[in-house]
Amino acid sequence: MIIIRRIGILTGGGDAPGLNAVIKGIVTVLTKAGIEVYGLKDGWKGALDGQGKVLELKDVENIQGLGGTILGSSRTNIPKIENGFTMVEETMNRLNLDGLIAIGGDDTLGVAAELNRRGFNVIGVPKTIDNDLPLTDYTFGYDTAINIATEAIDRLHTTSLSHSKSMVVEVMGRTAGWIAMGAGLAGGADMILVPEFPKSIDEICDVVKKRRESGKPYTMIVVSEGFQLLGVEETKVDEVDAFGHIKLDDRKIAERIAEELKKRIGESCRTTVLGFIQRGGAPSAYDRNLGLKFGVKAAELARDNQFGYMVALRGTEIEKVELENISHKLKLVDEEYYKLAEDLL
Ligand code: F6P
Repeated sequence: MIIIRRIGILTGGGDAPGLNAVIKGIVTVLTKAGIEVYGLKDGWKGALDGQGKVLELKDVENIQGLGGTILGSSRTNIPKIENGFTMVEETMNRLNLDGLIAIGGDDTLGVAAELNRRGFNVIGVPKTIDNDLPLTDYTFGYDTAINIATEAIDRLHTTSLSHSKSMVVEVMGRTAGWIAMGAGLAGGADMILVPEFPKSIDEICDVVKKRRESGKPYTMIVVSEGFQLLGVEETKVDEVDAFGHIKLDDRKIAERIAEELKKRIGESCRTTVLGFIQRGGAPSAYDRNLGLKFGVKAAELARDNQFGYMVALRGTEIEKVELENISHKLKLVDEEYYKLAEDLL
């Protein structure tokens, strides 16, 4: 068994509130154990070029409440880079890294799992505001995102009521509708549209029309950016990132729903696209706590030479699960939970 002396850490993909809490947890535990932490800059990009710096206790003092990531992030995808894995190996040798802790979502952890298969010492920490990673009850970032989105919906309700105007609020969620569900239920949405359950424009028009006819002054629609609207031509989006994901904000799903409601039943709607507001700024107390706990657990695993795992929240415990079991299997909103959105209308 090798003696762990130096560990690299990186944050990849879209930022999520709580990242800095994880970094603080890792740096504190490892530094106190006599293990140096090297913070790689800008996600997997840092693992290729070695850019970054040693993180000391003073660098992480009181950062648990800071938004974003002090390490920077990117969507660099190692398998897409020629000799990418060899370059990571060279970086680790050059920087004397005995292992890597990768903090990220599906894409970042997919790369981590691949590195693990290739014999690298890797640990994963699940991050995403989308909350769609399997084997963990929650990812940090989600709580903050739904709090922000709920507050936005609350605010829009009062304007809707004053002006008898319907709203379409677009929240993030590429493949999974957890944010739409969490914020939509908490904010009293009249209709929640998620990627897992496509709906036709006719069904949506029907609900809005029936509400009008029954004297309801407005309809509050919350839609995930990845929702599939049936019966209307899809907006063509060409731009993709290094992981092959299209730019969802270019699909303009909220705008398309609002346009169709106007055109088909004369309903005038305002649209609000929350976008990066859901990801930016200070994490909630819950996400700070979860981030710190994830960081501490990941550091303990690295300290004890236990690689090939992702840390996970299971019930109230922070546990380790095989990194191998998580890659590219997303946790989706199931029918039973989605039914709540319809039952509570
Ligand atoms: O995965 C988190 C997330 O915020 C998704 O909800 C969203 O689709 C995506 O990242 C957008 O990321 P970016 O525009 O930074 O590529």
